Amino acid sequence: MPSLSSEMRNELIEAALGVRRWAYAPYSKYLVGAALLTSSGRVYDGVNIENAAFPLTICAERVAVFKAVSQGERQFAAIAVVSDMGGAPCGSCRQVLSEFAPQLPVILVDREGRVTRETTVSELLPEAFGPKDLLERE
Ligand code: THU
Repeated sequence: MPSLSSEMRNELIEAALGVRRWAYAPYSKYLVGAALLTSSGRVYDGVNIENAAFPLTICAERVAVFKAVSQGERQFAAIAVVSDMGGAPCGSCRQVLSEFAPQLPVILVDREGRVTRETTVSELLPEAFGPKDLLERE
């Protein structure tokens, strides 16, 4: 996988910043936007969508992954996530990202567009449970 060009990186950050306005977060007021770049060069965005039945809330990262996968995309190159302070993805999102792309670069960005941290899914979720664990059964 060639490393992400700075143009593509900026485009991804802009996409995550732009989509964040559509976050539906009336309960937490914590708006999140995500933009996932596929190996085919497309960008799938996502926002968090809360629900009055709180546990039904879904995070921005998982919306982006599910949109991509449901369009036939399974190979990912990077994800940018924008939140107030540039917080890291939750455990559920780490697991879902790990299913498809353990080495995925994760670019964390605050609401002003400043990159707070660049990491990878495997760094955020070491020793993840994954497809290999099921395949290795008898
Ligand atoms: N949330 C995300 O969308 N992504 C994250 O990385 C962390 C948390 C959402 C879920 C919920 O709507 C709100 O942020 C507060 O937890």
